[in-house]
Amino acid sequence: MDNDIEKVILSEEQVKTAVAQLAAQLAHDYAGKTPIFICVLKGASIFFTDLVKAYHQPAELEFMDVSSYGDGFESSGEVKIIKDLDIPVTNRDVIIVEDIIDTGRTLDALTELLSHRGANSVKIVSFLDKPGRRVFQVPVDYAGPKVPNEFLVGYGLDYKGVYRNLPYVGVLKPEIYS
Ligand code: IMP
Ligand code: MG
Repeated sequence: MDNDIEKVILSEEQVKTAVAQLAAQLAHDYAGKTPIFICVLKGASIFFTDLVKAYHQPAELEFMDVSSYGDGFESSGEVKIIKDLDIPVTNRDVIIVEDIIDTGRTLDALTELLSHRGANSVKIVSFLDKPGRRVFQVPVDYAGPKVPNEFLVGYGLDYKGVYRNLPYVGVLKPEIYS
């Protein structure tokens, strides 16, 4: 798997530092509350588990599966709910956990949905931020490193379902796509 990577964008060490910083910020801001962390499957799964372990305060963990991408690069144009939450979010403090914010379509749709369901607050934590492709101007309350406008894999991010379990973030060699 490592042989397919052309360059590393964030090393395993840099990933750990970024996650620890985000967890510390959240722990500070949500002290005394019991927020619901919502993992946006599947991409956020790796980040989500590391983040909640580093959070060290009461929290509920929930999972949603939505899709806005096909099996390649391009956005398919809409967000579908494939797996919904198991509990109501009414009057709850909700933290949506995403792997990366790209066009913003997924997070824009999810924020609106959860607010509409009566959450007390809805905030977003995204491991990576790719500002170069933003179409929907969603407020990313907590964001890790900004990344260049390239297709990335690793630490949850996939290409055709593969590479999510790389412990770092990188760019694939061009021949992998051909
Ligand atoms: P958005 O709705 O356009 O912001 O896209 C969000 C989703 O697209 C992310 O949760 C990822 O699953 C996927 N995505 C965006 N950029 C990349 C990338 O560089 N590599 C892999 N998946 C990506
Ligand atoms: Mg995703």
